[in-house]
Amino acid sequence: MIMKTCLVFLSILIHGVLHLQASHVTINQDLQSILQPSSPNPTYRTAYHFQPPKNWMNDPNGPMIYKGIYHLFYQYNPDGPSFGKIVWAHSTSKDLVNWTPHPPALSPSQPSTDSGSCWSGSATIISGQTPAILYTGLNQQQQQVQALAVPKNLSDPHLLEWIKSSHNPLMAPTSQNQINGSSFRDPSTAWLGHDLKWRMVVGSKRNRRGLAILYKSKDFIHWTKSQHPLHSGKDSGMWECPDFYPVKIDGKDGLDTSTPVGTGIRHVLKISLDETRHDLYSIGRYNARKDSYAPEHEIVDNGRGLRYDYGKFYASKTFYDSVKRRRILWGWINESLPIVDYVKQGWSGLQAIPRSVWLDKSGKQLVQWPIHEIEMLRTNKISMTNKVLKEGSKIKISKITAAQADIEVSFEVMGLEKAEKFDPKWRDAELLCNRKQSWTRGGLGPFGIMALASMNLEEFTAVYFTIFKFGEEHGKYVVLMCSDQTKSSLNVRTDKTNYGAFLDVNPVHDQLSLRSLIDHSIVESFGGGGKVCITSRVYPSLAIKEAAHLYVFNNGASPVRISKMKAWSMKKGVIN
Ligand code: FRU
Repeated sequence: MIMKTCLVFLSILIHGVLHLQASHVTINQDLQSILQPSSPNPTYRTAYHFQPPKNWMNDPNGPMIYKGIYHLFYQYNPDGPSFGKIVWAHSTSKDLVNWTPHPPALSPSQPSTDSGSCWSGSATIISGQTPAILYTGLNQQQQQVQALAVPKNLSDPHLLEWIKSSHNPLMAPTSQNQINGSSFRDPSTAWLGHDLKWRMVVGSKRNRRGLAILYKSKDFIHWTKSQHPLHSGKDSGMWECPDFYPVKIDGKDGLDTSTPVGTGIRHVLKISLDETRHDLYSIGRYNARKDSYAPEHEIVDNGRGLRYDYGKFYASKTFYDSVKRRRILWGWINESLPIVDYVKQGWSGLQAIPRSVWLDKSGKQLVQWPIHEIEMLRTNKISMTNKVLKEGSKIKISKITAAQADIEVSFEVMGLEKAEKFDPKWRDAELLCNRKQSWTRGGLGPFGIMALASMNLEEFTAVYFTIFKFGEEHGKYVVLMCSDQTKSSLNVRTDKTNYGAFLDVNPVHDQLSLRSLIDHSIVESFGGGGKVCITSRVYPSLAIKEAAHLYVFNNGASPVRISKMKAWSMKKGVIN
């Protein structure tokens, strides 16, 4: 055995077998089977985030509601905890909280289409009643092609069996269409145009220009590539998992993807940027006649562009819940550990809590909030009102399970004159968070929560705000929100980024609210009622289960008032 291990390690050193496939790192199979435990290590498994019982999971695929049942498909490797030969695993739920697993809906089979893997894609409900899945197949030649699958039995609300179209592949790279067979994937949900033709986009790139290639079809089988992409981005690299959907200017209701363009509607284009693993979006106008999309601000990944989540959150996808008339967002939270460590753990990847998304009143950004159903898991409520948090102090939130909790706090700032001056050169919020750590004494802030904290604070994940004065102009402030992993674990191999974003809230008029969903190795936070979301994936070595604590803290030079705080223990969801 020792001899075999040495040989495998040697082969890794010689052949450099750790490589990237669709940008996911893969590992030598022999090494995987040596490292993989017989059952998954439970330490960092979560209680109410979606995950399969073991092995590797990545992107959410084809989420939808059909006959009152929610479906989630996801990229899954049945053979181990690292990326490999991928199937569409499948679970269903009545409430988006408790999930029942089913056999994979799609597995590699057709040599011309998907014998290599069944990669990401989306569901479209045709004529409001018939679901269809468009997905990417990795064919025998390792080329990426697009394919169709439809349910075998429409009267089964769980849609357990899927039939792949005999017309597959429907779209393939050729020398005429100039599509690169290794950068052509992740078809979006389709939408119906005024001419009764379907449209959808596929992610791609040409040289370093990211593309959302537009296709049209009359029958969902024969697709024609449009001359121009729906949108493209200079120098951004591959665009994965494009998502394109309408939002209402006014109100929180979602809209079906095929809603006719009219006044009162904007469109969102989201892309997953392979090079940085960030999900970026823009808000703009879709011209349905010309099939063109004009964002109000271009998609940029320079620290100032719009992201769904400024932490770990990738390859996301939305769907329209026609029963509750809302748009729901799913996103993959991957590990922030070296591959060898998660292979040893026997599992990898989680899904964020599904979030409702709508357009903010300003029209300039989206707002996200955990689906209300998650509140069914709340128990043992404790609350606090009107409590002043003095400068340099903290209060422990006891009597709840701190490693498995939901907390909502509203802060009212006092002493705005103590706010430090904002330097206009500070454009990158993440860099600024890394400079203004939670434990360094500031002006107005840092204040917030310390989650997954060990008894003597050797470990904690702080989620906090700092307020800066903007220039000499009176009454203008900048609010920075950070989720700090620097002290989240004594394990030096874990990610120590301090994630951050600027929050568009005026601290003079509005309270600063923070909600965090804490779930053993996840701290998923929503600032300003969901204007900024940051998900941290952390691996404490001391602050585990009952040894984890929760605090509210203020390290600023001025007191802040907790106008209200509510916290709950969270029960376990029934998940797969
Ligand atoms: C995004 C992605 C997709 C691809 C899938 C493969 O994480 O790389 O582009 O279809 O994962 O699992």
